[in-house]
Amino acid sequence: MSKTLIKHFSKTLITWHQQSGRSGLPWQDNRDPYAVWVSEIMLQQTQVATVLERYPRFMKRFPTVKKLAAADIDEVLAEWAGLGYYSRARNLHACAQQVVNEFSGKFPSDPLLLEQLKGIGRSTAGAIAAFAFHGRAPILDANVKRIFARIFAVEGALQDKAVNDRLWQLAKDLLPTEPKHMPVYTQALMDFGATWCASRKPVCLTGEKKCPYLKDCQANLSDLVLSFPQKVVKAKSPEFNCDMILIRSGNSILLQKRPSKAIWGGLWSLPEAPWEPRLSAKQADVTVKDLLALALPNEKSAALSKASQKMIRGEQIKHVFTHRRLWMQIWELNLSKPNEFSSTDLKWVPLRQLGKYGLPQPIRVLLQKLSLARGGDPKN
Ligand code: ADE
Repeated sequence: MSKTLIKHFSKTLITWHQQSGRSGLPWQDNRDPYAVWVSEIMLQQTQVATVLERYPRFMKRFPTVKKLAAADIDEVLAEWAGLGYYSRARNLHACAQQVVNEFSGKFPSDPLLLEQLKGIGRSTAGAIAAFAFHGRAPILDANVKRIFARIFAVEGALQDKAVNDRLWQLAKDLLPTEPKHMPVYTQALMDFGATWCASRKPVCLTGEKKCPYLKDCQANLSDLVLSFPQKVVKAKSPEFNCDMILIRSGNSILLQKRPSKAIWGGLWSLPEAPWEPRLSAKQADVTVKDLLALALPNEKSAALSKASQKMIRGEQIKHVFTHRRLWMQIWELNLSKPNEFSSTDLKWVPLRQLGKYGLPQPIRVLLQKLSLARGGDPKN
C-alpha cells in the first residue's frame, strides 16, 4: 500500500467532510457518551431522516443512563415502537443497567470495555470512543468496509475472517494521528460511504470526476468499482403464513405479550397461531374454536369460544424481516359478553390506551386503519 496514501488519507477525508459531509445533526458535536451511544444504536438500522425525528424524543423521555436503566422495559419498547429491530431497545435497556451497576453510571472510554456491553459491537464501540472520548479507535461498518475494499482492492468475501482482519488493519493504519480529529474523521468515513462511495451509484461512475481518491482508488484505476467488495449471493428468505386473531370485547382488544427471545420479542401483539411454511397464497379457513385453541392457553380459549360470535376474515398483511417473510391473516372476532380475565402476558387493553404499548409496526398500522389505535370512539 502506498505510504503517501496512508499519510494523506485522513486529511483528505476531513477536507472532504468540511465541504460535502453531513453536519448540524442533533447528535453531532456532543461528547456525552450516553447521547452518542443512543444515537449510534438508533442510526444502525434506521435512516437519518427518521432518527432526526425520533432521537430527540427518546432523549427527552430518557435523558440520562440512570433514567433509562430505571425505566420499565415496556416503556422503552413503547418508545422504540416503529423503529424496528427491537433487540436494539432490549439491549439499550440491559446496557444502561450494566453501565449503572458495573461502571457507576459512567460509560468506559476504552473500546475494549465498551465492546463488553450489551448490544455494542466492535465498530459501535469504536464510534462511541471516537465521538465521546476522542479515542483513536477504528470503526468498520458496512459502508466503511466498502470504501476500504475499493480503494485498496481488497479481494474476497466480507464474511471471511482473513478479509475482515485485513480491513480492520487498514482501519487502524489510516486513523488520523491527532486524537482531536477523531470525531470529524469518524463521521466523515460514515458519510463518505453512505453518499459518495455508495454501493450501487458511487460518484465516480456518474461521470463527475470529483472523488478525492480518484487517483488512489485501485478499484477505480482498474475500472472495477462495482466489483468491490465481492458480492455474496443471498438465498431467498423463507416465507411463512400465520393466523392472528383480533378479539374485541366492548371497548377493549386482547393483546398478548410476545416472548422476549421471539421475533418482536417483548412487544404486545395479537394472539397468533404457530407460523406455518407458506405453501399457498390463500390461507385456509379456520374455525373460531380451532384458532382460539392454537393461539391461547386452554382455559382462556374455552371461555372465549363460548362467548364468541361469528369470526370474519380480515386483512392479509405481508411483513418482510431481514431473514424471513411473514404473511399474517387477521381474523376478527367480537365477543357478545364482556370478558375480563388478564395475566402477565395477556391483557384486555382499552382502545384509547393502545398508544402506551409497544406494538409491532404492521399491527400498529392495522389497528390505526381500523381507527382503533388512535383514540377509537371518543366515548371509549
Ligand atoms: N450510522 C451510524 N452512525 C452514524 C452517524 N454517526 N451518522 C450517520 N450515520 C450513522
